[in-house]
Amino acid sequence: MLSSEQKAALDDYVNIGHRNTPGWLWQSAAYITALLGMKQIEDGLDGNLGEIGVWQGRYLYLLGLLSRPEEKVVGIDSFVHSPDPEGFARRVENRFNLEASTAGKLTLIKEDSTKLTPERVRQVAPEGFRLFSVDGGHLCDEVLSDSQLVSQLMVPGGIMILDDILNSTCPGVIEGTLEFLKSPQGSDFAPFCLVGNKLLVSDKASAEHYRQYLLQVIHENKDASIFRDTAQTISDFPEGVYPKLCGSDLIVITWSGDYLISDNGAPVLIRTKVCDMHEMNGPDVQLPPVVSLFERSAAVAS
Ligand SMILES: C[S@@+](CC[C@H](N)C(=O)[O-])C[C@H]1O[C@@H](n2cnc3c(N)ncnc32)[C@H](O)[C@@H]1O
Repeated sequence: MLSSEQKAALDDYVNIGHRNTPGWLWQSAAYITALLGMKQIEDGLDGNLGEIGVWQGRYLYLLGLLSRPEEKVVGIDSFVHSPDPEGFARRVENRFNLEASTAGKLTLIKEDSTKLTPERVRQVAPEGFRLFSVDGGHLCDEVLSDSQLVSQLMVPGGIMILDDILNSTCPGVIEGTLEFLKSPQGSDFAPFCLVGNKLLVSDKASAEHYRQYLLQVIHENKDASIFRDTAQTISDFPEGVYPKLCGSDLIVITWSGDYLISDNGAPVLIRTKVCDMHEMNGPDVQLPPVVSLFERSAAVAS
């Protein structure tokens, strides 16, 4: 499991710390990523953690906090869109090296992801990946190429996190993601959760395992602010009927407290939900600490 220092750092990062790193990450996505990353460790799943599209490392650092001592973190970014490519890369590396639990774990591949082969990534992480975020180029061909690359690097039970599928400013992501899921490589994978603009997919058997786990957590914590809307929506469905994508049942986490933080740290957007909102909470809503919620739920299950 994670060390107690790492658990404290993870709680802090999910609750508030992520706001200090510029980038794109909704808190609900951080929360669910943390839960699933800890679930994988509880399940005994080994593998590295990676991301295409690092920017300044807001999401990659969360993956770092979820890594065990022997696991590597790989970030891939050409940094071509950055106003300060060297500075961005150095900042991400420094951030990892500041904390004992993440120091020395990060490898940055500063290359165009669409030109990479699986063999090139395996040179730095031959064991494969249990969590991998796809958040690089947002055109259809880039999303398709990145998703196909990453799908070849995942261990069984690994989770691919596909960003921006519902971001109306980059419709190519919708096209690329669906093309991937319908391609021969993608058809081995099934989506199981949509949260904070990220679509989570895993191999078919594992997707159902994670979906059932999230259903259990939501059911046990239906009064927690982050799960209240979702629990209500699920209970409104006729028995056993869920939203579907590419034929797979999907849990859609809708949390009205979700917001995005701008580069200067101020909340800039209260997101428009995929479902109607019952209430709008400000960005200071306190969530139940993610580590204790995970541990309570694991204790109930055992
Ligand atoms: C939306 S940002 C990523 C945000 C980041 N995941 C976070 O947590 O804030 C997209 C990143 O993808 C990178 N990128 C875009 N196209 C790329 C490509 N073809 N190869 C590698 N990186 C690319 C950009 O340099 C940029 O840093």
